[in-house]
Amino acid sequence: MKKITAVLLTLVMAVSLMACSGNTQTSETESSHSQSGQAEATSAPENQKNNSEAEGDTAQTNAAAGDTETEENKILVAFFSATNTTQGVAEQMADGLGADLYEIVPEEPYTDADLDYNDDNSRSTMEMNDPTVRPAISGSVENMEQYDLVFLGYPIWWGEAPRIVSTFMESYDFSGKTIIPFCTSGGSGIGSSAENLADLTDGAEWIPGQRLDGGSSQDEIMEWVNSLGLDVTGE
Ligand SMILES: Cc1cc2nc3c(=O)[nH]c(=O)nc-3n(C[C@H](O)[C@H](O)[C@H](O)COP(=O)(O)O)c2cc1C
Repeated sequence: MKKITAVLLTLVMAVSLMACSGNTQTSETESSHSQSGQAEATSAPENQKNNSEAEGDTAQTNAAAGDTETEENKILVAFFSATNTTQGVAEQMADGLGADLYEIVPEEPYTDADLDYNDDNSRSTMEMNDPTVRPAISGSVENMEQYDLVFLGYPIWWGEAPRIVSTFMESYDFSGKTIIPFCTSGGSGIGSSAENLADLTDGAEWIPGQRLDGGSSQDEIMEWVNSLGLDVTGE
């Protein structure tokens, strides 16, 4: 019995020793692979590729950091104003927002006679009686793609936005942008004017707009802007 136990013990020890020596070989092999890998890495062009891949990663990280910086919303305040009331509001808004300002300028300026809403045959009356009219705009927005938010100001004419604002809406691709309309008027609210303009755009998000008094202070204007809960600071 003792003999059998001794033989078994010897066998177990022999197997254990073989296993240990196998492990050592494996780790040596791994270590030598890793060493030769390092050696190759410092000498072969492939390593430069690796380095450049590493640099690529860094560049990607930087690009990602850059993206974070450019995630700020870029804002445009665009407006049409025949008698400068909407212009005053738009200018204060753009100043308060640190936004770019763009005036929708008619190729053919509106005269006082054109703006006579008591005259059935005045230019403005005729334009507003025909929803398909598109008065031409002089000039254009430079690089509209850069803007995320577009504040859009106009006077109310016969309960609507002047047709030249329709020309503006149809002149650019507003998809992916947020549009915030505002108006001035003799008393009428913004009504359905913005919804009619929204029908002329595809893929834009329209925020419900607001009539602002022509005599609004910058604080009053910015109070409304800030009440919208939009990221207008980029922070
Ligand atoms: C042709 C025309 C139509 C107008 N229609 C309206 C109207 O329907 N409701 C209203 O409250 N004001 C109306 N107004 C007044 C203007 O909306 C108001 O004076 C506006 O503040 C002018 O803005 P602006 O100076 O930027 O052009 C009209 C003015 C014009 C010239």
